[in-house]
Amino acid sequence: MRGVTHPPISRRALQLLPAGLAAAVVVLVACGADPDTGAHPGQRLAKDYGCAACHSSNGDVGLGPTWKGLYGSQIPLQDGTTVTVDRDFLVRSIKDPAADVAVDNKLPMPVNNVPDADVQTIVDYIITLK
Ligand code: HEC
Repeated sequence: MRGVTHPPISRRALQLLPAGLAAAVVVLVACGADPDTGAHPGQRLAKDYGCAACHSSNGDVGLGPTWKGLYGSQIPLQDGTTVTVDRDFLVRSIKDPAADVAVDNKLPMPVNNVPDADVQTIVDYIITLK
């Protein structure tokens, strides 16, 4: 008796999956990587905390919604209401990612331990991304 064999297609898919994800993250990080000189301090923080891996600043679609044009926009939520993105919404979204889930959300945003002051700085940065 031979051991259990995997169909070649699924083994190949398993091998490709991590590489594909890694490549996607690299591309997304690269998209947000403007020269550090003159960059908003919140941009630096967004990179350091890994936010930029999921959120672009230029409109590109990532794992999370782009931050470009986010401030002031309207987001339909899963609870049936629509929210206009203001400063409070941005702060709450970062500190309590499970709150206010958007209708078109693809995956839950991970919980983070970003200190209040840094949250405020990142929100300042998001607001500049018109
Ligand atoms: C693994 C990917 C991922 C990472 C890392 C991530 N986010 Fe998110 N983020 C998401 C997703 C997905 C949503 C949409 C969640 C929802 O609809 O409630 C989201 C939503 C948001 C929102 C609300 C915008 C909206 O349209 O709902 C803000 C603000 C935000 N993230 C900021 C941050 C900050 C700041 C960090 C870093 C500390 C961060 N995110 C890290 C995936 C991520």
